[in-house]
Amino acid sequence: MDIIKKPSWHISENEVTDEALFNKRRDFLKLGAASIVLTTTVMEQLSAVETTKRDPLKFKKTSFGKDLNINDFNQASTYNNFYEFSLKKSEPAKLAHTLNPSPWDIEIGGEVEKPFTLSMEEIIKSYPLQERIYRFRCVEGWAMVVPWIGFSLSHIIKLAKPNSKAKFVKFTTLFDPKQFPDQAKGMFGNIPYPYVEGLRMDEAMNDLTILSVGMYGKTLPKQNGAPLRLIVPWKYGFKSIKSIVKIEFVQEQPINTWNAISSKEYGFYANVNPQVDHPRWSQARERKLGSFFKQKTLMFNGYEKEVANMYKDMDLRKFI
Ligand code: MTE
Repeated sequence: MDIIKKPSWHISENEVTDEALFNKRRDFLKLGAASIVLTTTVMEQLSAVETTKRDPLKFKKTSFGKDLNINDFNQASTYNNFYEFSLKKSEPAKLAHTLNPSPWDIEIGGEVEKPFTLSMEEIIKSYPLQERIYRFRCVEGWAMVVPWIGFSLSHIIKLAKPNSKAKFVKFTTLFDPKQFPDQAKGMFGNIPYPYVEGLRMDEAMNDLTILSVGMYGKTLPKQNGAPLRLIVPWKYGFKSIKSIVKIEFVQEQPINTWNAISSKEYGFYANVNPQVDHPRWSQARERKLGSFFKQKTLMFNGYEKEVANMYKDMDLRKFI
């Protein structure tokens, strides 16, 4: 399915990050303070605005990630990948006002006992919401730690009662060019919309896999995928599909959007792996947003104990 020409902007984004870092480092050295780790950049401070109105959520705290050092809200909500708005990371926060996450329904169907529709209202009111502090790692080499609020995807799977034919779960983002301007224009590298992602059934049932409705105590900002997105913390960020309207149980492995765009570079599994480089850059290290120095990438993004068993018979160089 390698039908779309290689998105040349993708590597340049990766390089831009490094160049910006390089310039910051040079300025910093000029100040003669080389060994300090910057926790927040000046730019991030300047853009410290809450761009969407967010509602407080009722949720349970958990011990997930209690020892991790959380990024601040502005970092997580002003440096985004949401191609339906723009390819530039600073733009979704400015453009996402066109998205209307309320009212919002999610269709559940495919190989299930009985298809049904869920409203976001119902989910927020009656689902077992928890806070999960997770590491998040983008395939481009940047990372962050975010306190997501959501519930186990397994909760929905149990309600849906998939039949024995259901081997994968397929997720689809809303298609509405009025709300997502790039779906109308499609001018940034021909991304085939709607954005689609998928998980194998055991991955979907894993307790770490959540559907997120919020972050930092309140509902999700639009640019982070309001009102409902997937979070799979041991996989590269492109698996964490935003603004979901459909969840289907299917027999065949779904063709996820980035795999359709460039199958040699982006696989279906997309497990974070410091030993398997992207064809155009190393995955051994990552830059946590706001940090001056790069840090080591962790196998399965630090969730090896919880997930490695699912891949024990697979060649992870082949199943990228
Ligand atoms: N979901 C949709 N619908 N559209 C997108 O462009 N980008 C993905 C993922 N989910 C994307 C998406 C990528 S590449 C990443 S790294 C994460 O969202 C970024 O999530 P964040 O903006 O909340 O950090």
